[in-house]
Amino acid sequence: MARGALVAVEGIDGAGKTTQARMLADALHALGREVVLTKEPTDGFVGRRIRETARTGRLPPEEELDLFLEDRKEHVELLIRPAMARGAVVIVDRYFYSTAAYQGSRGLDPADIVMRNLAFAPVPDVVVLLTIDPADGVARVRSRDGVENHFERLDDLVRCASVFDALVRPEIVRIDGARPIELVHADVMSAVTRVL
Ligand code: TYD
Repeated sequence: MARGALVAVEGIDGAGKTTQARMLADALHALGREVVLTKEPTDGFVGRRIRETARTGRLPPEEELDLFLEDRKEHVELLIRPAMARGAVVIVDRYFYSTAAYQGSRGLDPADIVMRNLAFAPVPDVVVLLTIDPADGVARVRSRDGVENHFERLDDLVRCASVFDALVRPEIVRIDGARPIELVHADVMSAVTRVL
């Protein structure tokens, strides 16, 4: 049986995470791997509550952090660990690096956020961090969704991007997400197949 693995795809809104996560899933599946493609916030009870606050108004940073941690704990126990244990490659579209960047950009300490996650969340074999200029990210989101939600204002994304830029972890591979989709995909594949 193949060894299970965990891949996180990260970056600010508009960096191309969801497209790249899907392409990666398809490519690994075509190579014969069992692939589980999933995302955070999840579609569970807590994840839905988080999405609701994106429309209706943000919670204070500490409360928001607690919700993301609760959502992730459930995700890790119910889906991520069992899938890895049976040999699947789990691809997660956003993981705790997003918590460091987004809740960190609201004044919480990113290093402390990472530490609280490491207490229960498995460290990915590789984190694909897609980079993009925040203004270009916002432009992509606008042309996709028509409107910005409360999580996606430019000044917030600039702060978020600078926390992502400052993250130092051995599992992080930075890939320029501003390029054509197929070029980005090729780099994502080589970063991931190296660790599988
Ligand atoms: P996003 O991936 O944009 O989901 P969707 O496209 O389905 O709405 O995630 C929603 C927002 O949640 C996004 O702006 C980033 C934010 N977020 C955090 O603030 N902290 C976290 O830990 C995670 C996982 C996401």
